[in-house]
Amino acid sequence: MANRPFIVGNWKMNGTRAMQAEARAIDRGAARHPGVRVAVAPPFTLIQTMAENAETMAIGGQDCHAAASGAYTGDVSAAMLADSGATFTILGHSERRAMHGESDDVVRAKADAALAAGLEVIVCVGETEAQRDAGQAEAVVCGQLDGSLPVGEGVTARVTVAYEPVWAIGTGLTPSLEQIEAVHRAVRAAMIERLGPAGAARPILYGGSVKPDNAREILAVPEVGGALVGGASLKAADFLGIVRGV
Ligand code: PGA
Repeated sequence: MANRPFIVGNWKMNGTRAMQAEARAIDRGAARHPGVRVAVAPPFTLIQTMAENAETMAIGGQDCHAAASGAYTGDVSAAMLADSGATFTILGHSERRAMHGESDDVVRAKADAALAAGLEVIVCVGETEAQRDAGQAEAVVCGQLDGSLPVGEGVTARVTVAYEPVWAIGTGLTPSLEQIEAVHRAVRAAMIERLGPAGAARPILYGGSVKPDNAREILAVPEVGGALVGGASLKAADFLGIVRGV
């Protein structure tokens, strides 16, 4: 059976308990769209409450540490995410790669830890504007996948890739539909190479300035199996507008 389109909200460092009304509205909306898989990754502080209250949407983390426990002040392990009710985590987001110096190796170690804790992983990749201008978008993305995608028996069914061009995140800019398709086809080939035939079945999300008014056309691009949504996931009306666009 083909995967349902997967629409994931990344709340980043936004949201306090005052966001509960928004979360409930997203959850109710998700129940009205059973053909779409809806998920939200709130800050750590909201995971438990949102997971306890969610009836339809999945709740996940935005990052985790690669170690199971230990002297890592300020960090959260994959097992802690799972214990809080998270069922997945985003990893290797470009903001983590850029602001926290996360290499492909680090992302891969985190992915292995998350999978071992029973979570699904959404591994993010994407080129900078300079890399795209230099004609390297596909090469950069495939290099990141080569270094950061987990491999191994039984993990494939829990691995999703999100292609997020760095220059499209939070800028209102998006690649052309042809550019999105070209990178998604390259990601698909890399997934099959790395994960085997099962890599053909996993969703590849597009992320970067997805809004209600461009979601429908982006989600119709071949090999786009969903969206990772930042800014527009903070308002239920906008996020559900994207869900409806599927
Ligand atoms: P944006 O962010 O939708 O605000 O561009 C996407 C992301 O960073 O996941």
